[in-house]
Amino acid sequence: MTTKAIQPPNTAVTDHNASAPYRCFPSAELKQNLAAHSEEQLKLFLESWEDLPVDSYMKDGADYRRRRYGSFHWTAGKLVADPAGVFHQTQEVNSLHGGVDRAFPPLSDSVLESGVLDTLIHFFMARLPGEFDPVTSGVGVHQIRITATRDADRLPAPEGVHEDGHHFVAQVLMRRTDIDGGESQIFDRNRRPIYRTTLREAFESIVIDDRRVFHGVSAIRPVDGVRQGIRDMLLIDYFPVQGHHAGA
Ligand SMILES: [Fe+2]
Repeated sequence: MTTKAIQPPNTAVTDHNASAPYRCFPSAELKQNLAAHSEEQLKLFLESWEDLPVDSYMKDGADYRRRRYGSFHWTAGKLVADPAGVFHQTQEVNSLHGGVDRAFPPLSDSVLESGVLDTLIHFFMARLPGEFDPVTSGVGVHQIRITATRDADRLPAPEGVHEDGHHFVAQVLMRRTDIDGGESQIFDRNRRPIYRTTLREAFESIVIDDRRVFHGVSAIRPVDGVRQGIRDMLLIDYFPVQGHHAGA
């Protein structure tokens, strides 16, 4: 289910409406929550985006997206990593890349064991825009890098306006270097634009109720005078385990 991306109107940066289907978090709020972790731990976590293999499932052999994926479930209140598995979206949810199991390279041991990832997963779990029961839910973690070059605009979300097929998805900016564009856009279920913002600082975030909105990201390109730019994202999916393939 995709449509061509359209430009939503400007909207306020922060939405405090408790019933809104999305929530935004400034970098400072995340960093405050991560204060228990050392500078070294945070640096290592951010640097793990330097070690992402090319996403081999991109259409036409495109090599501008790199990624790793891992999933987790809760056991006795603790987050436990699943064995390496496949990521699956239905064709209906993702007409471009859905309908097939995608065996992305797994998260590295240092990321899996990083307290930073654990803190981030729990941060959003406590602030989701809707009800969430961890006992019956799983968590998917995507590390994604988009490299923008001079030869063409790069689409962080080549699906266009889309849904991910989860209950909630946290979109966390990890790095934005030498790029223009990359505007995060949220639409209601009639695909009318309701919010847009550009994440600029590391750890600046949006979390959406994926059942109540569609979303998209505008193209990115290098800023004037440089050959390439980078946009690193951490996506955290929250989904019910039963009947869901992502963590299987
Ligand atoms: Fe998405």
